[in-house]
Amino acid sequence: MRIEENYLLKEHNTFRLPVKARWFMEYESEDELVCILRDEYFQESLSLHIGSGSNLLFLNDYNGIILHSAIKGITIAGETDDTVLLRIGAAEIWDDVVAYAVSKGWSGIENLSLIPGESGAAAVQNIGAYGVEIKQVVETVEAYNQLTFEKQTFTNEACGYDYRSSFFKNKQHDPYIITHIHLRLSKTPRYTLHYGNLKELAAACSPLTIQDIRRIIIDIRRQKLPDPAVTGNAGSFFTNPIIPADHYEALKKRYPAIPAYPMKGQVKIPAGWLIEQCGWKGKTCGQVAVYDKQALVLVNLGEATGDEIALVAERIRTAVAERFGIELVPEVHYVLS
Ligand code: EPU
Repeated sequence: MRIEENYLLKEHNTFRLPVKARWFMEYESEDELVCILRDEYFQESLSLHIGSGSNLLFLNDYNGIILHSAIKGITIAGETDDTVLLRIGAAEIWDDVVAYAVSKGWSGIENLSLIPGESGAAAVQNIGAYGVEIKQVVETVEAYNQLTFEKQTFTNEACGYDYRSSFFKNKQHDPYIITHIHLRLSKTPRYTLHYGNLKELAAACSPLTIQDIRRIIIDIRRQKLPDPAVTGNAGSFFTNPIIPADHYEALKKRYPAIPAYPMKGQVKIPAGWLIEQCGWKGKTCGQVAVYDKQALVLVNLGEATGDEIALVAERIRTAVAERFGIELVPEVHYVLS
């Protein structure tokens, strides 16, 4: 177990904000986690469990305990003729898991290449990209109830997955900490190529391999999204809003080019388009910029504070609400203590 006091979190949030945590605790096993959960000081303190902070916006120093898993490991937990079941430690870097699966030729997560973050958080957030969401391959999730210290295994259904959401994000019930995720991957190629121009790009490869798909996805992401190792950012700052069909029809009359994706009787609108229409794409406000290749991404130009980033986000929200009557909701989790 590792315990640090007044710990700099700059390497633990992809906005690279130089905030400090009063305490930073990292556990390497389930026993260590339970030991922390049972500790009275921990129970009385404010605490936050983080992954690699790729979806967090710290608004100030954290006056509590930041908890982080160091549980790693990828093992084969089961196998059929067609599929393989992987058990993955929550602290495994998500893209390392994708690279490993691709190297074995197991398909299901290749479209999720290069998404920053760790595997446990990926299952909380239901990460998604290029027509695939992690919920499609999650079989079970192992988690500890933070209040009863009991371990529970959640089936895919019990994870309550939805667009960028899950049971674990819902604050209405006891908090859970994920220690392992189980993913079922296909040993035979089952590719998802319907998103954007993926099919055309894939058509240039003959025969098409899973390595090709990973390379194509990585190329697309590198063209559109800033690398958090170079430029502080948290990917999409807002979720794409899902609006009623009649609201969409009314908007379509005024903006015939509005992109839209039908979703369970409603319509999903790309927030990046809404933000671009409001003139925010590529705009700079002090140390904060709206990325010039993807308006859904806010970047830290180097010295931004969490408050400054939140202020720009608020101005964007106001502009989109006034023009389109749509309330953007941050995908990024604001941390205030
Ligand atoms: N668009 C614009 N201007 C922009 C950006 C986008 O007009 O500046 C419009 C275009 O019409 C484009 C459409 O939005 O065709 C969709 O854009 P893109 O394919 O880049 O996807 P997105 O909806 O903006 C979502 C995810 C991304 C994921 C991509 C690809 C959310 C909130 N974001 O973005 O996820 O990589 O699809 O699947 O759902 C993340 O969650 O951090 C993330 C990067």
